[in-house]
Amino acid sequence: MIKFVLSGIKPTGIPTLGNYLGALKNFVKLQNEMQDYEFLLFIADMHAITVYQDPKELKQNIKNLAALYLACGLNTDNLTLFVQSEVKEHVELGYIMQSITYMGELERMTQYKDKKQKQAHGISSALFTYPSLMAADILLYDAKYVPVGDDQMQHLELTRDLANRFNNRYGETFTVPEPLVSKKGSRIMDLQDPTKKMAKSEEENKGCIFLLDPPSVIRKKIKSAVTDSEAKIYYDKENKPGISNLMTIYSSITDLSYEEIENKYKDKGYGDFKKDLAEIVVEEISKVQKEFEKWYDSKELKQILYEGKCRASMFARSKMKKIKKLIGIGY
Ligand code: AMP
Ligand code: TRP
Repeated sequence: MIKFVLSGIKPTGIPTLGNYLGALKNFVKLQNEMQDYEFLLFIADMHAITVYQDPKELKQNIKNLAALYLACGLNTDNLTLFVQSEVKEHVELGYIMQSITYMGELERMTQYKDKKQKQAHGISSALFTYPSLMAADILLYDAKYVPVGDDQMQHLELTRDLANRFNNRYGETFTVPEPLVSKKGSRIMDLQDPTKKMAKSEEENKGCIFLLDPPSVIRKKIKSAVTDSEAKIYYDKENKPGISNLMTIYSSITDLSYEEIENKYKDKGYGDFKKDLAEIVVEEISKVQKEFEKWYDSKELKQILYEGKCRASMFARSKMKKIKKLIGIGY
């Protein structure tokens, strides 16, 4: 039986350095380490529309994200890349998952609570039931491992609960998935407000580095990142969240430990540190951008997405058949 590692990213805006370090770069690393697994990665467009998206922009974002997945260096040999809405079983199982999810479980989700607080009116019911759809994405393929940033841990816990609940009610059906959270980079914070995670949807973009930002913009954003007045470089997330966040970025790209970074900058100030960091980030992202240009608009990308859709659908269809039979729906 094929073993799957599965993950998804929403095509809302341009992916950020947070998505890159917390998710994309980690996928590439895991792919090298777990060669006997097939990687199922998708563009979560059904999740994206739980909040209104301009249709033209959404199309563009889907295309950008598809090209960015590949630009990060994923090995296409054991990769199935697809667009969520093109495999209709996600929504079908999503509905079934909703029918075994309790309201209380959804009300407890911090991501939902945060969004609700920010947006008092016009929250869609799909935003509320989003975690049930996410559970369906994962359980549909019996994925064993799900690499995500740590903001998704709660959703994954719910997925595990739903898998167990379904198995108890209807008989052993789903693999209970396990999260894979990278040690470093699982939570990159906003450069202007390091108590908030770096996210695509913030209106103010100064604290957020996008993967398609030109080098000059990246340098500027890092240079103006908020720090503190102590002017000493060491890791202390509580008292020095700004510098600690920059050290996390530094460390995730170079693989140097915090201690090694502290030693390297023992006698230096924030200015030098930021300057070096800017060059490190620019170099890393420039590589991705060069590859992005090659993939974007290429025939290969179209073909990969087509094959991905067919292959994912094949697994999804056969799983759905079994699920419906167990539940007793259909004639
Ligand atoms: P999203 O953009 O919300 O669809 O997230 C896609 C993936 O990127 C998920 O695995 C998230 O956990 C991860 N991610 C998003 N923002 C960050 C961040 N600031 N730091 C680390 N990982 C992140
Ligand atoms: N909810 C995830 C996010 O916002 C994206 C996502 C949707 C996902 N379905 C998934 C991640 C399944 C992992 C597995 O980041």
